[in-house]
Amino acid sequence: MMIRLLMAALLAGCIAAPGQEKKEAEKLAPYYPTPMVVVERMLKLGELKPGEKMFDLGSGDGRIVIVAAKKFKADATGVEFDDVLHRKSSEEIKRQKLDKTARIIFGDLFEQDYSSADLITVYLLPQSNDKVRPMLEKQLKKGTRIVSHDFEFSDWKPMKVELVEDDGEGRSHTLFLYVR
Ligand SMILES: C[S@@+](CC[C@H](N)C(=O)[O-])C[C@H]1O[C@@H](n2cnc3c(N)ncnc32)[C@H](O)[C@@H]1O
Repeated sequence: MMIRLLMAALLAGCIAAPGQEKKEAEKLAPYYPTPMVVVERMLKLGELKPGEKMFDLGSGDGRIVIVAAKKFKADATGVEFDDVLHRKSSEEIKRQKLDKTARIIFGDLFEQDYSSADLITVYLLPQSNDKVRPMLEKQLKKGTRIVSHDFEFSDWKPMKVELVEDDGEGRSHTLFLYVR
């Protein structure tokens, strides 16, 4: 609960000021990494299979993309607009020699094409999920799975809800699986 409040508070100061001339990407969530045990559970819940295409919207340090490519043998793409996180995650992908099947796009997650996705993962805020939802409804092919960490998509009915009781640091996490 504290973490959710913290994320919401951080977001409040980060949205581009109204009236700004240059259209900047909207910060949909602060950087807050998914614990590694939860990363695996998200990809398992999303039934990610070898060769499938997955996208992590707001990929942070690239951990979900890296596990998707390395352990699940998927074709994994992250989108991240923070240049430091983009550089760090891209370097880690290179260091782990995963660059044939994993990559991080540097840019706004609203500006990408997800029509080829078999699985989408998100760890954004509830109001951000509301903003992303129309884009996903428009772009995603039938049968694409979406796994959201901690926050639901309003108006969508989850196929499954899974609780991770302890992430190793005593915190619990809720995962929501949707199928388009
Ligand atoms: C809560 S973190 C989640 C990181 C990663 N998905 C994970 O679960 O470990 C949200 C990430 O989204 C990124 N982000 C926020 N708004 C974005 C936007 N409009 N375009 C691209 N990335 C964005 C932030 O920089 C941050 O790294």
